[in-house]
Amino acid sequence: MKVTVVGAGNVGSTCANVLANNGVADEVLLIDIKEGLAEGKALDVWESAPVLGYDTRTVGYTSDYSKTADSEVVIITSGVPRSPGMSRDDLVSINANIVKEVTGQLVQYSPKAKVIVVSNPLDVMTYTAFLTAKVPAKQVFGMAGVLDTARFKSFIALELNISVNEISAVIMGGHGDTMVALPRYTTISGIPITELIDEDRLNALVARTVKGGGEIVNLLGTSAWYAPGAAAALMAETILKNQRRIFPISCWLQGEYGLKDLYFGVPAILGGDGIEKILELKLNEKEMELVNHSAKSVREVQKVLVDMKLF
Ligand code: LAC
Repeated sequence: MKVTVVGAGNVGSTCANVLANNGVADEVLLIDIKEGLAEGKALDVWESAPVLGYDTRTVGYTSDYSKTADSEVVIITSGVPRSPGMSRDDLVSINANIVKEVTGQLVQYSPKAKVIVVSNPLDVMTYTAFLTAKVPAKQVFGMAGVLDTARFKSFIALELNISVNEISAVIMGGHGDTMVALPRYTTISGIPITELIDEDRLNALVARTVKGGGEIVNLLGTSAWYAPGAAAALMAETILKNQRRIFPISCWLQGEYGLKDLYFGVPAILGGDGIEKILELKLNEKEMELVNHSAKSVREVQKVLVDMKLF
């Protein structure tokens, strides 16, 4: 089993490192446009194999996509990251060209690969990859909800002083300030979270989650990589093992939740074929209002892409 990670920056190399450590692929291939970067990072990961005891071959190449042929999963992390003061949406004009170029190359050599997009602005970059790839929508999707729910769970675990493993959470919508956390569908070992945390504290945790990416940008001057890289690696692992796990994923909507023709975060079953099924939760009026608000904001960014006339 072969996984290609495009972009050997912080997110891409972390993702490759986690994948190699997990031993789910025989080969993890890292690729970057910058001469020597992918080769160097991949070599460093490979040299840690004898220490950590895994056998995943990790190799890097500079822009040679022929080496990526027949990958089962490809993960696109390419593009510029956010810097302070920049929204994820400011990135659209720069990153759309990059994602289009990269996706075209990947699909040429691995037409059956499941494509996980990590580049921001996430939902619209996933749409860019979909328009370029011209493969079924179940093969192209975006990593956002795994990261956003991970942040939410990490804060809940601290609040209640419990294991992160006890927590299930759903966050829908665009990967940005309008994302919609759903406390009604958030449980601790089956116990609704609203039984364990009062409303004000819960609202504070949700607010921190929504701004979670920005919190890191403000601290580091660039965007996060450990959690985003690990989240993308978990999705790749789920696909390779055909586990059919349920995560919030940016999926191509065709009428679900009353939304059509956009990539948007929804709970879905992820398995060997990619998006096996989108789950339609029953949302109340207030939740639906928040979802529609988030969809509107994703559509505004999508319009920036459409106006670029790349397709
Ligand atoms: C974040 C970026 C990677 O949420 O989107 O940290």
